Amino acid sequence: MSKKYVAEPFKIKMVEPIKMTTREERIEKIKEANYNLFALKAEDVYIDLLTDSGTGAMSSTQWAGIMLGDESYSGASSYFNLLDSAKDIFGYKYIQPVHQGRAAEKVVMPLLLSEGKIAISNMHFDTTRAHVELTGAKAIDCVVEEALDTTTYAPFKGNMDVERMKELINEYKSENVGAIIMTITNNTAGGQPVSMENMREVYKVAKESNITVIIDAARFAENAYFIKTREDGYKDKTIKEIVREMFSYGDVFTMSSKKDAIVNIGGLIGIRDEEEFYNAVKSRTISFEGFVSYGGLSGRDLEALAIGLNEGINFDYLNYRIGQMEYIGSRLEEENISFQYPVGGHAVFVDAKKLLPQIPYYEFPAQSLAIELYIEAGIRSCDIGSYMLDNDPVTGEQREAELEFTRLAIPRRVYTQAHLDVVVDALVSIKERAHEIKGYEITWQPKVLRHFTSKLKPIDK
Ligand code: F0G
Repeated sequence: MSKKYVAEPFKIKMVEPIKMTTREERIEKIKEANYNLFALKAEDVYIDLLTDSGTGAMSSTQWAGIMLGDESYSGASSYFNLLDSAKDIFGYKYIQPVHQGRAAEKVVMPLLLSEGKIAISNMHFDTTRAHVELTGAKAIDCVVEEALDTTTYAPFKGNMDVERMKELINEYKSENVGAIIMTITNNTAGGQPVSMENMREVYKVAKESNITVIIDAARFAENAYFIKTREDGYKDKTIKEIVREMFSYGDVFTMSSKKDAIVNIGGLIGIRDEEEFYNAVKSRTISFEGFVSYGGLSGRDLEALAIGLNEGINFDYLNYRIGQMEYIGSRLEEENISFQYPVGGHAVFVDAKKLLPQIPYYEFPAQSLAIELYIEAGIRSCDIGSYMLDNDPVTGEQREAELEFTRLAIPRRVYTQAHLDVVVDALVSIKERAHEIKGYEITWQPKVLRHFTSKLKPIDK
């Protein structure tokens, strides 16, 4: 029996039609897109699980906020509303809006990292890795072993391997560790949460070695939900109380607000108390993003974000949201399709290595599966595996990802139970013909963040 679907804690006021296509049409469209799902026209996609980023549905309150947006260049009331909301939730003294998560990374990373330094993370997301590497520093992932075992349950597979982190600090010397980056939830490991205990420990070690801890906070609310429901001592705490404690184990945060803050564009930088660091952030924001009080966003965006931050930490909403992942997960379990178990907060990560064992990493099994899902039912997903990893910047060789996932990222408050059933049914059909599925090769690629724009073709053996 699959898990009971948690009914939506909202009703639908506006609908957006989506187009049905035939299999033949989809075979043609994906070929035209050079087998890169980012190159498809969104209108040719039936269920779009490419990302949960900026794809959520705003609430009626947020839309009302849009109309109240103050578009003053400087000192807009929407800016102050955002500061009030963010300071109240995170407990940080300084908050700087920017236009999205990678903008926050662009502003912050060069202040801490440079040639010869390293950043240690429980796992860098690809844009975070890119911004670390763009400073000349080296990005090292240091996730716990359990993350690599997709079939065995562990409550916090996103955790940092603290012992290894200590070894790395010793090996490289603490003065060369420019930052420790805690990604919550750990997207690359499968949207897996990080425990409070782990955050606390990492922070303690970092402080002993005088290293700055950056929280990559894109999915902070989902992480807090997992702490509440899985970690001893947190059952009776509110999500907000948990968030406050989580952020007390960081010095700076960078956030893509396009995820848990349920807006279509936006990002934040938070600085706990260091005024000098904030001043440097402000200068760089003005150069790259715009004046301090809008940071690359319009007043209406700031207003929607101020409201979304609070909606994102509502327990009933989070219970429904994570319930959607659990529903998909339980249906996949019934069908013996492997995925990063337990399910993550924002997505279900299907284990493509297990489903398509005949395809080696350098022929991109997770990308192959994503292409099949499109052909099968018009579902758009993405590779989080070797295809997403750029070639090694030093040797130029294809890197092998430890995990080959096809990610089904679920937009917030957008799809219904029946949509989720279409997705699972498509995977079941693909499983039946899995042995016939082939790998891909890249025919063109840029140097960094290649998965967005590179071109591929099927390998005919
Ligand atoms: N950090 C994490 C953990 C992310 O997942 C993302 C984006 C970013 C930073 C960058 O934020 O897109 O606003 O510039 N993740 C999206 C995804 C793109 O699909 O997982 P951004």
